Amino acid sequence: MTSVWHRAALGLCAAIAVAASSQAAPKVSFKNDVLRIFQTHCAMCHGPGGVGNASAGLDLTSYKQLRSGSLGGVTVIPFHPERSPLVKTIKDNWTSNKPGALKMPPTGSQLSSKDIDTISTWIKQGAKNN
Ligand code: HEC
Repeated sequence: MTSVWHRAALGLCAAIAVAASSQAAPKVSFKNDVLRIFQTHCAMCHGPGGVGNASAGLDLTSYKQLRSGSLGGVTVIPFHPERSPLVKTIKDNWTSNKPGALKMPPTGSQLSSKDIDTISTWIKQGAKNN
């Protein structure tokens, strides 16, 4: 016989399993993780007075500025790193042979895969101001 308690216990186990799996990827913080990468690799051009800010209208020095996008439109689509223009410029375009594919940063080397992962995971987790 399946008692009410038995079913309640099964339900609880399922809830715990869901909670555990959603914690698989560590939470990424905008302030402590993502902004630090932008400050090191992007802000000299994508900040007040920078060339990337002047020509593309993209300021990467604060959450508010980042989410306000660029002249080209949105740069980050929450929960969808694979569709976010920002991720294209730091990741996909580096292996693309489409003429004119923007690679960021335009000078020097590509971001480390750890930094690319950090930014992608933050977007996947909802691109929060955290
Ligand atoms: C040396 C200066 C420079 C650096 C460093 C730089 N950028 Fe850029 N970025 C530019 C310029 C200039 C443009 C406009 C290029 C164009 O439209 O041809 C641009 C454009 C972009 C765009 C496209 C915006 C749009 O919608 O048109 C994105 C996204 C971007 N940069 C992200 C980044 C990220 C992320 C970093 C750091 C990893 C970075 N950039 C580092 C100069 C820079």
